[in-house]
Amino acid sequence: MHEIPKILIIDDEEIVRDSCIHILAKSDYKIVTARDGAEGLEILEDFQPDLALVDLKMPGLSGYEVLEKIHEYDPTIVTIVITGFATVDAAVESMKKGTYDFLPKPFKPDELRLIVQRGLERRRMVIETITLRKEKELLREHFAAIVSHELKSPLGAVQQNLFVLADDLADKLTDEQKTMVERLQTRIKDMVTMINTWLRVISVDISKIREDFKPTSIDTIVTKAVGSVESHAIRKDIAIKHKLNPSLPQVSGNEGTLVEAITNILNNAVKYTRVGGKIEISTIKSNGSISINITDNGVGIDEEDIPHIFNDFYSGKARPEGERSSGVGLAITKRIIEAHDGTISVESTLGEGSAFSIQLPALEMTNNFIDPD
Ligand SMILES: Nc1ncnc2c1ncn2[C@@H]1O[C@H](COP(=O)(O)OP(=O)(O)OP(=O)(O)O)[C@@H](O)[C@H]1O
Ligand SMILES: [Mg+2]
Repeated sequence: MHEIPKILIIDDEEIVRDSCIHILAKSDYKIVTARDGAEGLEILEDFQPDLALVDLKMPGLSGYEVLEKIHEYDPTIVTIVITGFATVDAAVESMKKGTYDFLPKPFKPDELRLIVQRGLERRRMVIETITLRKEKELLREHFAAIVSHELKSPLGAVQQNLFVLADDLADKLTDEQKTMVERLQTRIKDMVTMINTWLRVISVDISKIREDFKPTSIDTIVTKAVGSVESHAIRKDIAIKHKLNPSLPQVSGNEGTLVEAITNILNNAVKYTRVGGKIEISTIKSNGSISINITDNGVGIDEEDIPHIFNDFYSGKARPEGERSSGVGLAITKRIIEAHDGTISVESTLGEGSAFSIQLPALEMTNNFIDPD
């Protein structure tokens, strides 16, 4: 957003252009006008407006075409339509093309001032959001670099030296000293695990996941995910019911990360379900997408926690004894599912259990990839 907001007025009627300039003159704006769409579009690149007022009915290029071109050039430019034939249809049509608001002619000075002010406020917010998003991305990258170089490498060296030292001194240490060294090794191992978890959150790179998409079987993904939590479930005497569904279409995806996403949900289901509990996984196709539903009869999620459980580093009130809880599993899962153009949602009742549902776009049956193995 420019310090002095820039406004482009495109209208074939001189009287409208002049009255807009006159009405807006008291505010600190830079205003440029154009007599038709072609002239307006020519000015666009040089002028870089924050807001454009566009007449819908002009000779030559229509207002609709001009709006489309402006949005194509820079979707953050706020556009406001001015029109003599103020019909709801015209308003709806221009709004569909991303127009911010609508001003019927003739308009009162205050109406124009207000709509421009609101439009510029909107532009400010959009620019701020984009800047914040970029900053967050940069922060993420910097954090990853700091964590890996400044923390992980030296810690790895300490861990290595400690191994060597413990080995060299094995005969000389008292039992008490040995216990101390073991404690040190455990603490350092935990820290390395924690750093690796952080790095995993930061390094789930959506564009990289997308580069590697292949037709992938949901049955394979779920089977692999179940396999990785099975021993944990057996230890807690939790039954995992999963019926294969070979008639399901495949999805276009990255098998490794999809297995990771489902594993995270299953890990939670096991972690937050009491001994002797039950987990059920079902997969169905509906309306061009595949749903993977994972339900448990565990402790359930507190209503206050539900809006936050997919956020980075958020752990809810449910804290199982003796189990690690970094609060990143579902954040990673959500990012992976969204990279696959899918969605994830949850329903849960405290004390009764939780149901996670993932929707992924199905590949058409004709596109199915037949794995020669
Ligand atoms: N099936 C579930 N039943 C009850 N609570 C759950 C369930 N799944 C998630 N939660 C709640 O959501 C929170 C966030 O889950 P998430 O998997 O992101 O983190 P976590 O399990 O705490 O840690 P980790 O990073 O080790 O997975 C959990 O702390 C827990 O409170
Ligand atoms: Mg988890």
